[in-house]
Amino acid sequence: MRRYDFALVGFGNVGRALARHFVERRASVLERFGIELALTAIVDRDAMVFDPAGLPLADLARWKESYGALVAWPGMQPAARPDELRSRGIEGLVLALPTNLIDGQPGLGLARAALDCGLDLVLADKGPALHALPELEEAAARVGASVGTSATTGSALPTLTVLRTWFGAARIDSIRAVLNGTSNLILNRLRQPGVSYADALAEAQREGIAEPDPRQDVEGFDTAIKLVILARGLLDPALTFASVERRGITDLPELLLESARRGPERLRLIGRAFRDGDRARVVVAPELVSPDDPFHPLEGAEKAVTFRSADLGDLTLSGGASSRTGTASALLRDLLAAARARR
Ligand code: HSE
Repeated sequence: MRRYDFALVGFGNVGRALARHFVERRASVLERFGIELALTAIVDRDAMVFDPAGLPLADLARWKESYGALVAWPGMQPAARPDELRSRGIEGLVLALPTNLIDGQPGLGLARAALDCGLDLVLADKGPALHALPELEEAAARVGASVGTSATTGSALPTLTVLRTWFGAARIDSIRAVLNGTSNLILNRLRQPGVSYADALAEAQREGIAEPDPRQDVEGFDTAIKLVILARGLLDPALTFASVERRGITDLPELLLESARRGPERLRLIGRAFRDGDRARVVVAPELVSPDDPFHPLEGAEKAVTFRSADLGDLTLSGGASSRTGTASALLRDLLAAARARR
């Protein structure tokens, strides 16, 4: 049996979902893998709760939901730096801050500092992956640590891991995907009579799947981020987020909505990454898909991806709905992989 202590930075929807899911799964992780995972520090804004004997996670989650912050929780202390966490026996850091598209901060600075002192990094915050994934992975390799990215590129829908493992050295020609569960939920709900855009978005927010700023979902940013992270590694390392052509679902023409309501076609927010000469292009836009399209049957907040490879043909994965538990489970998978790699 081996123990692996980790810290969580960010106690919003994603952080709390991880804490609750962890409580449900830690016994089976121990039984199946012989690893005792221990969440011993939670950083919320500038404050931190730390206890090497383990934290009362359900109570902390309820407190945060009641009061909006942990700062008044008894025994709170100032947030520790990653090197201080390391010296308290912590080996992994989960970053669950809201994604900052502009420069990835403050997550990126924390991610660099965590790897500098040898902590494993598990990302739910997509900012550091969008801005610096190759740099972070090189830094991790230098110190024998790892970077978990499952929750930045689809969570319950496996994407980057499949590309890196299953495709091996095969050439990838294009990626076509529905990668934002919130938008898919909204587009599915809008087909139902009497459901408004605001009702559908409110449902996604209640489910805890919309981003803190839901414009990231409905204006196509979230799809674009995920696709740029995927496409950079495989199609074009120089691909920039600024070059993405992006249209969201906030100003859908009534004609399109009517077709989706009355006809057999369905609306999907689709991202495409493809080769254009030596470079790659990423385009995100709503499209009507016909019943023979593999993305047609996606229900609720389900997602899907098709990888096209001259060497291996097409591979479509679908399902992987966005959900609190799906994200938490993806984070736990990355933590477990990090802990196993250290043995
Ligand atoms: N907001 C995202 C979605 C979940 O709706 O799919 C996190 O990537």
